[in-house]
Amino acid sequence: ARPLRVGIAGLGTVGAAVIQILARQNAVIAQRGGRPVQVVAVSARDRTKDRGFDLSPFTWFDDPIALARSPEVDCVVELVGGSEGSAREVVETALSHGKHVVTANKALLAKHGSALARTAEEKGVTLAFEASVAGGIPVVKTLREALPGNSVSRLYGILNGTCNYILSRMELEGLTFAECLKDAQRLGYAEADPTFDVEGFDTAHKLAILTSLAFGSQIDSEAIYVEGISSIAPLDLAMAQELGFRIKLLGVAERTNTGIEQRVHPTMVPRTSSIAQVMGVTNAVTIDADAVKELTLIGPGAGGAATASAVVADIADVASGAAGAPFGRPVHSLESAPRAPMQRH
Ligand code: NDP
Ligand code: HSE
Repeated sequence: ARPLRVGIAGLGTVGAAVIQILARQNAVIAQRGGRPVQVVAVSARDRTKDRGFDLSPFTWFDDPIALARSPEVDCVVELVGGSEGSAREVVETALSHGKHVVTANKALLAKHGSALARTAEEKGVTLAFEASVAGGIPVVKTLREALPGNSVSRLYGILNGTCNYILSRMELEGLTFAECLKDAQRLGYAEADPTFDVEGFDTAHKLAILTSLAFGSQIDSEAIYVEGISSIAPLDLAMAQELGFRIKLLGVAERTNTGIEQRVHPTMVPRTSSIAQVMGVTNAVTIDADAVKELTLIGPGAGGAATASAVVADIADVASGAAGAPFGRPVHSLESAPRAPMQRH
């Protein structure tokens, strides 16, 4: 069968890992989906950078938007980042040219997800974004495909690997906030602008996506109360410990009598609770739903290989034709649920 021809825009932490995983897993993907995946084109800013693999098999594009409209590409993988500028234009161009899109860009989806999903629907192509939430954890697939027998009442979790890594190392190793953040950047966990991580915005972007999937609602990131971890000091962690708690940055979305409440803030969790055991770059998402009761997914929340695992899963779904509607249902059926005022917790 004809291979799915993939173009990758962005060859940083995630993009480079996608190329490496596809190279070793292509036979498996071809068996599952009935056709192989072939990376035919790539784009990044610096052509001369050593990325640890040979670029010569691929057509190089200095301009990622040119890659997005290239007739040689069937599926565009956007791994540039940012809610505006090149990333947005790459995705819009690809969709409007009738190409499938796979992206890990939660900032873009939190702001423009509904409009992009509508374009994908109109063009009859896929917009897939498993890697945009919780790195390697298949939580988008779980909410989109595995729970039609459920009504979800609440979801919450640790959705930012950088923050959990910082809080864990500050507590366990007595390191400073700045030292831990620097390591998170070195390991490829942090956003290009780490303010998004430590001020809670990245968690809010991911929560907005999960809320839409869980409650069948329009993405409403403006509705989220957001507080990050930048003002958490070693003394706060020590005091929490003294009282039998641990501090975690949580994202919470809940259906209340008045609408959907969404919030992101540091939270004291009992040290004996299962969420308190989630340390380092690991993420966890708990879904409360009527039939399944409580379901928790735990796994690596950031990093090249783990995130690329989710990107490759989406590419494999595009290749096999298994990818469904971006938010699990037609865009026009997403409710604009009222925002519930934040309760005291
Ligand atoms: P990086 O900063 O490591 O990589 C970004 C890539 O985009 C680089 O290759 C860069 O080129 C390229 N790039 C940037 N601007 C342009 C431009 N204008 N034109 C062409 N290429 C451009 O980011 P990550 O790989 O970490 O993240 C990519 C996406 O994945 C982001 O949306 C991020 O939020 C998301 N994500 C990241 C995770 C992680 O753990 N890192 C986890 C989950 C999602 P060059 O290399 O030449 O500088
Ligand atoms: N910067 C993000 C994090 C990457 O640390 O969780 C994964 O989305």
